[in-house]
Amino acid sequence: MSKPATRVAVVTGATGSIGSAVCRALAAEGVALVMADARLPQALATELENGGAATLAVACDVRLRSEINAMVDQALTRFGRIDILVNVAGVVSTGSAETLIEAEWDRVLDINLSGTFRCCQAVIPTMRAQGHGRIVNIGSVLGKNGGNARPWIDRGEQDKAGNVAYGVTKAGVHTLTLYLARELAADGITVNAVAPGPIASDMTSTFPEQLRALIPVGRMGRAEDVADAIVFLCSLKSSFITGEILDVNGGLFGD
Ligand SMILES: NC(=O)c1ccc[n+]([C@@H]2O[C@H](COP(=O)([O-])OP(=O)(O)OC[C@H]3O[C@@H](n4cnc5c(N)ncnc54)[C@H](O)[C@@H]3O)[C@@H](O)[C@H]2O)c1
Repeated sequence: MSKPATRVAVVTGATGSIGSAVCRALAAEGVALVMADARLPQALATELENGGAATLAVACDVRLRSEINAMVDQALTRFGRIDILVNVAGVVSTGSAETLIEAEWDRVLDINLSGTFRCCQAVIPTMRAQGHGRIVNIGSVLGKNGGNARPWIDRGEQDKAGNVAYGVTKAGVHTLTLYLARELAADGITVNAVAPGPIASDMTSTFPEQLRALIPVGRMGRAEDVADAIVFLCSLKSSFITGEILDVNGGLFGD
């Protein structure tokens, strides 16, 4: 496959901490950006346009297939191709398995897992027709480790510290990644995920200081740490890597 003049990326969750870092890092590589989020990422789009990037900001709720399809149509109308999809949109959820209400379970699955699946489905026909694509999903260490150990909490705090619904969605994202990787490998489409550990962001602003002490590298991750790994998995240098769930966790957990 010959390298297209300008590669085009769709990034969901583009308004958030990790999503905006991904957009900045891809823009620095000369990639044109379709920035989608339930909260319109207009300020970031303007910032990146001022820096010379080609961008399109779209309000898109990944719970709604109609909004995803409309976003993909806008992307194709503006740029004519989609080389990269990075599924960053997600929500955090806390609660123990014993007490979590079903509406919360459904909400987190709908956004984190089904939303990722819907966005993948929406770009596959375009990527297949191009014979080229890169899909990168965002999993989590919590989809692998059964929840971060928090030896300091007592039973009364378990409800605040539990992440069962969130962890299950991220394990689902990992498995979705493996299946899509197999399904799309012959079409020049790679499908990988990154599994971040705790990353300093709005999502983790309430995490206790003790959690930091469990990370061997000795610090919380940065959104840029995740973005750098994603840029590699989106690049033309990673064409023999597919079905990988790449840990970006400072040594917190290894498998
Ligand atoms: N921060 C961490 O420690 C950490 C660790 C592992 C994985 N992650 C994952 O990384 C991703 C980004 O996390 P973040 O820390 O940047 O959080 P964030 O809250 O800063 O960003 C999440 C973004 O997703 C958007 N979003 C939420 N629901 C949406 C929906 N229905 N449709 C479209 N957009 C929606 C939000 O508007 C927000 O901009 C998430 O998938 C999260 O689960 C984060």
